[in-house]
Amino acid sequence: MEKVRTAVVGCGMISNIYIKNLKSLFSIIDLIAVSDLDRAKAEEKAGTWNIRRVMTVDEVASSPEIEMVINLTPAFAHYGVIKKMLEAGKHVWTEKVMTVTLDEARELCALADRKGLYLGVAPDTVLGAGVQTARRALDTGMIGEVTSGIAVINRDQSLNAEVFTFLRGKGGSLPYDVGIYYIGALLCLLGPVRSVKAFGAPAPVHEPRFLFRNAGEAPWQIPGSGVLSASLRFGCGALVSVLFDGNTVNASQHILTLFGTRGVLRVGDPDTFGGQNTLLYADQKECVLPFTHGYDGKNTLDPTPFDYYGHRGVGAAEMAYAIRQGRPNRCGREYGLHCLEVLEAMERSASTGETAELDTQFSMKPLSPGYYSSFMGGSDRADAEFSLMD
Ligand SMILES: NC(=O)c1ccc[n+]([C@@H]2O[C@H](COP(=O)([O-])OP(=O)(O)OC[C@H]3O[C@@H](n4cnc5c(N)ncnc54)[C@H](O)[C@@H]3O)[C@@H](O)[C@H]2O)c1
Repeated sequence: MEKVRTAVVGCGMISNIYIKNLKSLFSIIDLIAVSDLDRAKAEEKAGTWNIRRVMTVDEVASSPEIEMVINLTPAFAHYGVIKKMLEAGKHVWTEKVMTVTLDEARELCALADRKGLYLGVAPDTVLGAGVQTARRALDTGMIGEVTSGIAVINRDQSLNAEVFTFLRGKGGSLPYDVGIYYIGALLCLLGPVRSVKAFGAPAPVHEPRFLFRNAGEAPWQIPGSGVLSASLRFGCGALVSVLFDGNTVNASQHILTLFGTRGVLRVGDPDTFGGQNTLLYADQKECVLPFTHGYDGKNTLDPTPFDYYGHRGVGAAEMAYAIRQGRPNRCGREYGLHCLEVLEAMERSASTGETAELDTQFSMKPLSPGYYSSFMGGSDRADAEFSLMD
């Protein structure tokens, strides 16, 4: 299959694991250029990873060579970068969230549709071994019909924003920045949400604590709700309680549990690729489900500081295969738009006190099972990549 000629735009923190994986793990990608507003950052990546070209964002847009752009800029910059690339006729894969407002996301989806271009959206952790194994457990009826669920994540997001300064802007609140992994996993497992009822509380006004780093800076307040507590009614009938609390401490209490008519499925951490799933039946011991799929996040033959991000890039690679095969990609624009609509519905319901009804739809085929071999320390791609090909 002809490789998809690709450029990465945004050479910050997450680009390390993306570029490493795009260069070494996914044979469908030909990474030919990198770009960043800060050219020195792009030059450093090009040097480290032997990438042929460093380009400005405009040069990426106008290059006839480049077919697909992987957008790794901060959330607030997504709209401008995606729009420019779609208008220039490029397929775009973007890190989460697609944009920071639903109206912008709807506009970009319509643009991609008009131009006949792919627009893929993270989180792609839903294509990891953890969530795909959970999906297989549900699809094969292991817990019967899902009746309800709980999803919880907590952090001190204002404190984290002292280090990751982009979190101080729109899209930086815990629900948007991290809660989206839980929403993405729930959507992959249960399908679209119909309605949302929520309560919320704002983030605190944050006085800098890391004074060596932020001395003299004015206090800031992350926009949007710091805490959101919501009830989600899914189209499949399941009722799921969601709690995202960014106003507490960095002692994450990850919970993602689905209750069914025959059993209970505890889903592994959806912010990783290899969260372990366990199954509970009445009067039996809880048991661990072995992974039925590849991409379990273990990619440590030649570790870099960002290896714990595992298989990031798998969504872009799956989209590249979809482009060549002329079929829809799994983490497609409708999925990205629905993720954002759920988050925005939670915010809307919290501020109006009304139940928010959703109008976007999506569907996501599961990946076919694939085994990622650890033979030779994982250097052999084995057959996991085949699972991205249909
Ligand atoms: N850092 C993480 O832990 C993490 C994890 C998962 C996903 N993400 C997502 O990845 C994306 C990037 O995150 P990051 O942590 O790498 O951010 P970062 O701030 O470290 O890097 C972003 C880079 O984008 C560049 N940039 C900003 N605006 C640009 C523009 N208009 N054109 C070209 N370059 C531009 C910046 O110069 C910077 O080098 C975000 O969407 C984030 O939500 C980050």
